[in-house]
Amino acid sequence: MKIIEVCLKREKYPIYLGYPLEEIGQLFIKHECGNKIFIITDENVSRFYSNAVRHSLENAGKKVDICVVKPGEPSKTIKTAYHLIEKCSQFGLDRTDTIIALGGGVVCDLAGFVASIYLRGISLVSIPTTLLAQVDASVGGKNGVNLPWGKNLVGTFHQPSFVVMDISTLKTLPEREISQGMAEVIKCGIIRSKKLFQFLLSTDKKEIKNHFDSIISECITIKKRVVEMDEKDTKGIREILNFGHTIGHAIEINSRKLNHGECVALGMICETFIAVQKGFCCYCLFENIKELVKKFNLPTKTNISSQKVVHSLLFDKKTKGGKLRFVLPVKPGAVKTGVEISTNDIISNWEKWQ
Ligand SMILES: NC(=O)c1ccc[n+]([C@@H]2O[C@H](COP(=O)([O-])OP(=O)(O)OC[C@H]3O[C@@H](n4cnc5c(N)ncnc54)[C@H](O)[C@@H]3O)[C@@H](O)[C@H]2O)c1
Ligand SMILES: [Zn+2]
Repeated sequence: MKIIEVCLKREKYPIYLGYPLEEIGQLFIKHECGNKIFIITDENVSRFYSNAVRHSLENAGKKVDICVVKPGEPSKTIKTAYHLIEKCSQFGLDRTDTIIALGGGVVCDLAGFVASIYLRGISLVSIPTTLLAQVDASVGGKNGVNLPWGKNLVGTFHQPSFVVMDISTLKTLPEREISQGMAEVIKCGIIRSKKLFQFLLSTDKKEIKNHFDSIISECITIKKRVVEMDEKDTKGIREILNFGHTIGHAIEINSRKLNHGECVALGMICETFIAVQKGFCCYCLFENIKELVKKFNLPTKTNISSQKVVHSLLFDKKTKGGKLRFVLPVKPGAVKTGVEISTNDIISNWEKWQ
């Protein structure tokens, strides 16, 4: 077990990496989390893990209630949040008590949002169970729900009291979800860690799973350093986390079939190709990134047109004054932020990178 501390201006909290869920009750005693604990989870995760968490909390003397939502993005709504708030109230949860987010990024965002507004904010403990949530969604304090016309349009910043990651939960995670998390891992390597990037390239795919603890640890450390410098995303430092996400997000808006990680994989390839064309990095980096994307069964091509992508980009919140701002790779572990790219550059390179 390893503890990584996130140190913010007004608060700090630990991430327990490699901590068994069966023993989680001990942490709730240590952190004085109140008497009542309200667990928010989804159907898939509940099937595997809610009993272990509940029993451990009850053995630690806590009164526990669970609310199970439907899995997937459609649950990230104000309506579901309202339903959860009603359940918190019926359970008699007060300001000394705690909400647990037990699940992937959807549950972490939803439960984080509820914990931040119920009674003007109560304690939150995050237990991320997907690779994507462990390396990304559970670190940084952002939460939120979707509106019918856009993702994450309502939300707050609310830091957890602590985060618990039991890496063995990844054993039940479907392969496509592992791949989607690997897209964010590859991103971390490109933006900040040459060591991680080289490790991913040189290690056999089957062998990678035996190193999830050190891979997740490296990704969390990268994200927490960025968050510590730019807690509320106001200084432009968090921008580096958007590598692959500018194009990726535009692809995501236009695709019904691809998940977030798959779109980010495409975005990373496309953005690196543009970086090569603009002289920011060498062609071999483009080839290496493409090789990694293939290795983890992520897509390297899309039939979505450049026109659709450019149209979505112009409406993206990352657009400033009609200009497209990109994070482009320079070499493994280093990127340049705030590079302005024209829509013509995207259109003229669209076929070539595929
Ligand atoms: N707040 C942030 O900083 C941040 C960062 C990145 C992503 N996100 C958000 O995260 C969400 C995506 O997260 P996700 O990819 O984890 O999706 P998800 O929460 O929908 O989980 C993916 C699927 O895996 C299932 N699952 C989860 N854990 C499992 C386990 N251990 N075993 C078996 N099945 C399991 C879920 O039920 C679901 O069907 C998006 O809504 C995105 O906006 C937030
Ligand atoms: Zn992402």
